[in-house]
Amino acid sequence: MINELKLEPLVLIEKHYEKGSTLYHTLVDHSEHVKNKALEIAFHHPEFQLDKQFIAEAAMLHDIGIYLCNAPRIHCHGKFSYIEHGYLGANILRQEGLYKHALVCERHTGVGISLEMIIQQQLPLPHRDLLPVTFEEQVICYADKFFSKTNTDETHSLQHIRSSLKKFGESQVIQFNNWNLLFEGDRPV
Ligand SMILES: [Fe+2]
Repeated sequence: MINELKLEPLVLIEKHYEKGSTLYHTLVDHSEHVKNKALEIAFHHPEFQLDKQFIAEAAMLHDIGIYLCNAPRIHCHGKFSYIEHGYLGANILRQEGLYKHALVCERHTGVGISLEMIIQQQLPLPHRDLLPVTFEEQVICYADKFFSKTNTDETHSLQHIRSSLKKFGESQVIQFNNWNLLFEGDRPV
């Protein structure tokens, strides 16, 4: 019998992040929070038939590109702007053959970034829609908005999330509110 290969997100993270470093902990702690919240939503909504194994793996890997960006406050000293961490992470995962996981990386910034927005705001991003499409992509993107990387113990309030998203346009807030209703509308956050 052939054993199915199991993806180990931490092994992949440790290829790019020194285990035990501050940045490693920032990434892993943040990603664990996102994973747990996304899985909570998945368990609470059996009707969505979400792929929990995929959610667990992709949530752990969604920010793998941050070390390539310049964000000293979270110990990243790369040359790219922070907004680029999504597609940069996607490139890393594609090199590993993880094409579905790569889409979670490049589609999780804000509530996703449309091609129209990339062009209008002249963002340093590839010219394609970077919007979460599958339910798994949407749940991870939504869960990510609740957790800081500057202080990984902090959970953002709904008010905080809405005001951060508003800087990028009202449509971001509308999408977030729709997800909030869909994923958590029937229970307190
Ligand atoms: Fe994140």
